[in-house]
Amino acid sequence: PATLPLRGLTVLVTAGPTQESLDPVRYLTNHSTGKMGYAIAETARDMGAAVTLVSGPTALEAPDGVDMVRVTSAQDMFDAVTAHFEDADITVMAAAVGDFRAENVHPQKIKKHGRTSLELKLVSNPDILAWAGGHKRPGPVAGQGEARPQVLCGFAMETEHLVEHAAQKLGEKHCDMLVANNLNDRGAGFATDTNVVTLLTPGAAPEPLSIMGKGDLAGLILGRLAVIRANKLA
Ligand code: C5P
Repeated sequence: PATLPLRGLTVLVTAGPTQESLDPVRYLTNHSTGKMGYAIAETARDMGAAVTLVSGPTALEAPDGVDMVRVTSAQDMFDAVTAHFEDADITVMAAAVGDFRAENVHPQKIKKHGRTSLELKLVSNPDILAWAGGHKRPGPVAGQGEARPQVLCGFAMETEHLVEHAAQKLGEKHCDMLVANNLNDRGAGFATDTNVVTLLTPGAAPEPLSIMGKGDLAGLILGRLAVIRANKLA
């Protein structure tokens, strides 16, 4: 039925922050609450999809009827996504993944005694969205009949030059859609129940949307992704 537009499809969602250990008691993280990603997972379920939610540490309850995979670090999230990606028809990466982790995690608590400063050496984490963009199935290929295209949607949060940076990510990470939000916009960002975003798709003008509840925005995003998927099959 028209009310279950994602019936028969599998949706993979990443949400929340990651935690990157420095020592047994400390970690690096960010302000993500997971609200946007959880709203996408719940809405996809309500639209009829089988949903896997790969979530970093959040205070949110596991949504009913969703396959939850709890992870801590970016590397854990990468491992979970690579394990589930092949099954996904639509993947939405809303997690705020830590870009860097400690090169060496101290095996014991780092002591302040005798120090006036502390240098931490960080190394890059894998870019999960970029990996997915490099591995997604494009859809039917003439003569080869690849039947299940994969649709990939990323998020971008910026504090300046939003549309330029987001357009660059859309291309570099081979996304079908990028949802860009400016942390400085009123009603956008981490702990709010609303968001103010601009949608970017390849070859189209950026589409700024007005302020929306995260649930309504989730429905709009998933509806667009379903259309993109249908167009790949057509
Ligand atoms: O490049 P940037 O981190 O701003 O891109 C944000 C998008 O990339 C989000 O969709 C985020 O979930 C994803 N991402 C990721 N793995 C990373 C960094 C970002 O999947 N290591």
